[in-house]
Amino acid sequence: MGIPEPSSSARAVVTGASSGIGAALATELARRGHSLILVARREGILQATATELAQEFGVEVEVMATDLSDSAATTALCEQLAGREISILCNNAGIATFGALVELDAEYERAQVRLNTVAVHDLTLAVLPRMVERGSGGILMVGSAAGNMPIPHNATYAASKAFVNTFSESLRGEVSGQGVHVTLLAPGPVRTHTPSPEEASTVDRVVPDFLWNSSEYVAKLSLDALERNKMRVVPGMLSKAMSVGGGYIPRKFTAPIVGTFYRKFGD
Ligand SMILES: NC(=O)c1ccc[n+]([C@@H]2O[C@H](COP(=O)([O-])OP(=O)(O)OC[C@H]3O[C@@H](n4cnc5c(N)ncnc54)[C@H](OP(=O)(O)O)[C@@H]3O)[C@@H](O)[C@H]2O)c1
Repeated sequence: MGIPEPSSSARAVVTGASSGIGAALATELARRGHSLILVARREGILQATATELAQEFGVEVEVMATDLSDSAATTALCEQLAGREISILCNNAGIATFGALVELDAEYERAQVRLNTVAVHDLTLAVLPRMVERGSGGILMVGSAAGNMPIPHNATYAASKAFVNTFSESLRGEVSGQGVHVTLLAPGPVRTHTPSPEEASTVDRVVPDFLWNSSEYVAKLSLDALERNKMRVVPGMLSKAMSVGGGYIPRKFTAPIVGTFYRKFGD
C-alpha cells in the first residue's frame, strides 16, 4: 500500500525539524495534509513551527523535544513512538565535523555516531513493526553523498552516512513486498539558509552557488520519491558525481583526492 492518505490519527515524524532540511520536510508534509511529530533539541523553535504549521495547514502538530545523541532520551522517545500510528518517519537529524579525527573533540565525535547512526537504527526499529503489520508506511533516510566513499578529514561523518545509505537500501529490499516504502536521500551540498559573510564556512566559500540545492527543493523531491518508493534520491550535479565516483572509481584513488578537498573544510 505504501504511504497512507493523511488521517487525524496518524503522524509523520520528522527528526531535526528545527532547521534546514528537516524544517522543509515538516512544512512539505503539512502542506500535503500529514499531521506531525517534530523532534529536535530546541523545543522553543519546534513549538513555534508547530503553531505555524497547524494554523497554516490545519494539521495536528506535536513536539517531542529530544537529544537523539542521548541513549536514554532516544529510548524514551522510541517507546512512545512504538505505541503510536506512525505513517512516515523522516530520519533526518544529523551533524558533521571536518578535520583530522585525532584533533577533533572525542566526545562530540561519539555523539555524532550516536545521532547519525544509532538513533536512526533505534527509531526505525521502533516504528517498523507496526508499519509492516499495517502493510503501509514510509521511511525517508537522510544519508549523504559523503556516505558513498572514504573521506579523510570527514571520517566520522562519512562512515556514519555510509551506515545510513547502506541501511536504507538494504532495508528497502526487505520490506518493499510488505507495503512499506524506504527511500534514501543522499544529497551533496544543500543550502539551508543564506549565510552572512561572517558566518560563511569554508564549505560555503569553496562550493560554487550553482552546485547547491535548496532545502525546500530537496524536501519536495524526497517526499515525491518516497511516495513512488524510489530507492535513492540524489539531487544536484555534485552529489550525482559523488555517487558515480563512489560506485565506480577504486577507493584508493578517490580517498586522497577527496581528502585533499575536505582538508580545507576543517580550517
Ligand atoms: N545541508 C547539507 O548540505 C547536507 C548534505 C548532505 C546531507 N545532509 C544531511 O541532512 C540532514 C539535515 O541537515 P541540515 O543541513 O538540514 O542540518 P541543520 O540545518 O544543521 O539541521 C540539523 C537538525 O538536526 C537537529 N539535531 C542536531 N543535533 C541533534 C541532537 N543531538 N538531537 C536531536 N536533534 C539534533 C538540529 O536541531 P537542534 O539543534 O534543535 O537539536 C536540526 O534540526 C543531516 O542528516 C545531514 O547530515 C545535509
